Amino acid sequence: MAWMTRWPGGFPLFVDHAEGSRFVDVDGIEYVDFCMGDTGAMAGHAVPGLAEALFERARLGITTMLPSADAVWVGAELERRFGLPKWQLAMTATDANRFVLRLARKATGRPKVAVIDWCYHGTVDETLAVLDRGKVVSRPGAIGPPIDPVGTTRVVPFNDVAALDEALSHGDVAALLMEPALTNIGIVLPEPGYLDEVRRVTRRHGVVLVIDETHTICAGPGGCTRAWGLEPDALTIGKPIGGGMPVAVYGLSDEFAAAAEGFTADHTADVSGIGGTLAGNQLALAAVRATLSTTLLDDDYERMIDLAYHWTAGVEDAYRSRDLDWHVQQLGARAEYWFSPPPRNGAEAAAASDPELEAYMHLHALNRGVLLTPFHNMALMSPAHGRSDVDRHTEAFAEAVASLVD
Ligand SMILES: Cc1ncc(COP(=O)(O)O)c(C=O)c1O
Repeated sequence: MAWMTRWPGGFPLFVDHAEGSRFVDVDGIEYVDFCMGDTGAMAGHAVPGLAEALFERARLGITTMLPSADAVWVGAELERRFGLPKWQLAMTATDANRFVLRLARKATGRPKVAVIDWCYHGTVDETLAVLDRGKVVSRPGAIGPPIDPVGTTRVVPFNDVAALDEALSHGDVAALLMEPALTNIGIVLPEPGYLDEVRRVTRRHGVVLVIDETHTICAGPGGCTRAWGLEPDALTIGKPIGGGMPVAVYGLSDEFAAAAEGFTADHTADVSGIGGTLAGNQLALAAVRATLSTTLLDDDYERMIDLAYHWTAGVEDAYRSRDLDWHVQQLGARAEYWFSPPPRNGAEAAAASDPELEAYMHLHALNRGVLLTPFHNMALMSPAHGRSDVDRHTEAFAEAVASLVD
């Protein structure tokens, strides 16, 4: 994968096996993992019970293009966690986002989508766009954009209600797709009242509000949506919900589902542009059931959030003791340090990045048996992490800071 070139040290480690919060490379060296497959393994590596459930389901048949009883359990559990009543399956969060955007265009009859500047929602064409001096342009690095994103996308800065209102006022936007807190350009938290205003403005303009909880599930068992009482028209989530198996889901409100659902009603349903032959296969559903019935539960979050708090406190102590103007931010079970004051939006976050210093911090940690997410300075706690994992990072971080300053 392209991002394997992003690991510090010029080459990626090759993994032998992973369990709980740790993995062992092919040289037999053990590491504490705070990347957790960039959230894919947030439930922990080798989730107890998942391998057995997958083995059992594989023996009973992996895919038939028919639903299994697990679909009923999974639908009810997703409604319990996130509050939305209707759910569909995809294989990846990228696909879940693509499908919801198609449904939003169908429901509203409008062509464009709005996204947040410096967002990431997977390889969805319309979302690979940023603002350059107020103009929508292809995101740097995006390969072969199908058409100029000006034709498909309006981009607005995070934490800017006036810009959102203006972008939606043209009447051509079907959906606003956003993370409730940015996690993909570092953690950028919403200012008080911002998300209420987003809901009010999207409603006023008749725009479908899609919340992508793929990473922000770190805020609690029902993501930010439940933790903060959000009311999206649609919600997408992939990566962690199948314990690392490729599976994603998207939920729809009754109202949005009623406006969008007609595509299943006639013989053209198989070419609707929604779904995939293997989406909703029985193995994927078994993975979601085994994961969500055993992990990422209320009491897991209590421990994970407490650990993220300790990780944050350790980092803060180290840079404060050396009078550095660095910062650290926590979003539930996820935490991140900055070499600057906390940014207010994606552009500020992108400008604050310091690739050389970042590479040093990551490689320094890796050489002491600690893996961070290769993009920015983020750590994610799983139910399998413990205080000794956090302490190992705190020690390595303090040593790195001292090596820079003393
Ligand atoms: C918020 C968010 N949505 C969607 C995706 C896409 O996930 P996938 O690559 O599994 O399709 C990502 C991936 O990092 C993400 O962070």
